[in-house]
Amino acid sequence: MQHVRRPDPQVIVIFGGNGDLAKRKLLPALFHLEVAYLLPDDYRIIGNSRGDFTNEEFDRFAREAIAKLGRCQPEGEHWDRFAERLTYVSGSFTADDQEPLASAIRAAQKELGGDAQLLAYLAVPPKAFSVLTRALGEAELNIGSRIVFEKPFGTDVESFGKLGALVHRYFDEEQVFRIDHFLGKEAVQNILALRFANGMFEPVWNRQFIDHVEIDVPETLGLEKRAGFYEGVGALRDMLVTHLFQVMSFVAMEPPYALEPKPLADETAKVFESIRPLKPEDVVRGQFEGYRQEEGVDPNSDTETFVAARMFIDNWRWSGVPFFMRTGKRLKEKHQTVTLAFKEPPRQMFREHESVWFERDHLTFQLGEEAGVSLAFLAKKPGPEIELGPARMSFEYDAAYGSEVMGAYEYLLHDALLGERTLFTRGDGVERTWELVQEVLEKPPSIHVYPPGSWGPKEAEDLIAPRRWHVAREENHLRNSG
Ligand code: BG6
Repeated sequence: MQHVRRPDPQVIVIFGGNGDLAKRKLLPALFHLEVAYLLPDDYRIIGNSRGDFTNEEFDRFAREAIAKLGRCQPEGEHWDRFAERLTYVSGSFTADDQEPLASAIRAAQKELGGDAQLLAYLAVPPKAFSVLTRALGEAELNIGSRIVFEKPFGTDVESFGKLGALVHRYFDEEQVFRIDHFLGKEAVQNILALRFANGMFEPVWNRQFIDHVEIDVPETLGLEKRAGFYEGVGALRDMLVTHLFQVMSFVAMEPPYALEPKPLADETAKVFESIRPLKPEDVVRGQFEGYRQEEGVDPNSDTETFVAARMFIDNWRWSGVPFFMRTGKRLKEKHQTVTLAFKEPPRQMFREHESVWFERDHLTFQLGEEAGVSLAFLAKKPGPEIELGPARMSFEYDAAYGSEVMGAYEYLLHDALLGERTLFTRGDGVERTWELVQEVLEKPPSIHVYPPGSWGPKEAEDLIAPRRWHVAREENHLRNSG
């Protein structure tokens, strides 16, 4: 593993410690870091939430989560070490009352030798960020600490501004870690490696050779009891303005002069600056049938569970090249892909067959579980005549590097523990992303209902026409070639 530095002793506080994110991602990731010797020599993990939750319940919660969703089983000496360091301190944590959590944090710091740093992880819905930030500040737990905000940071331009001002009242920007876990995916970082470490891609990475770009993240998962977070947030804020925009910035950016926080954030910010603000007609919103009947959802909810968008980057490299993005819950298949479709050359010398309906001239990054890169092209089929058939070159992370691939949260938690900020988002870039969608948030296009298990509303097909969504076409190809 490349990252071998071990962080200094730290107290990690997870706000929302018994929530979905802690269960699905944070606790399994922290345990894997423990197994990989990437946690500090000594540490404490304190969970916190408003309702009652005991140490024993937290222990069981963590063990079950890791057993079910982690990469390593919670057993043996690593588990004993980890479990010994877990505690839960329940009760609200506000500017008026920071006890008993503040005392528990100080006691844990003392146990670790007095000057152990605090890493406060806000794994809570965006509406809870201000209260917790203020409480940390008023308890003077901001001093020398690091604070990690889950996305979305704010929910529009105004709330971003207010939250940003509050955060900076107590924390310097160097202490602030706005996480977007897609940037922790090896396959997303690989976009930069492929582009800038090789000589053959960058020369064609522009409007002269690329017809369009798709960033497509359909999900089969539904709400998974996350109504408390999802209602009023929706796919646009949960995924589009955050993960999909951040991935897009990696695809579109100019080469940074170094892979360090400032140059990377500068280039990302330049991409966001050059994007044409979205108009309501550039966006399709959908809601899966049955969403309004889910527990915790308003029966008249206008929250979208699907969003597709078309956008343009008005700069020298990308002028005229549309970027299409799509994501949604309860769709037909789960994928996380970026596709660059190259312009077609004249092919009049080849006999084309209708049956060759294939995603040719496409470079596709798989960002999810089957992480890798593939290039789809046309080749000569075996036989006496020159006939074209689909061909592919591919690279798969698993096959190439096996288990060394780190999970996104592992990667970013380890970075946050080290104070390494390169893959965390910077305030100005995030603020601009909210500006880009402000008009859509103010005048949201109407919702189209779609059946669960489909590809979402048909209006999303119209948005991209005459082009098509690569993922569904790929499926058609596989079906045709049988
Ligand atoms: C989260 C979103 O940030 O990312 C979820 O809140 C989404 O709605 C998830 O399902 C997808 O990411 P991954 O990497 O866990 O598949």
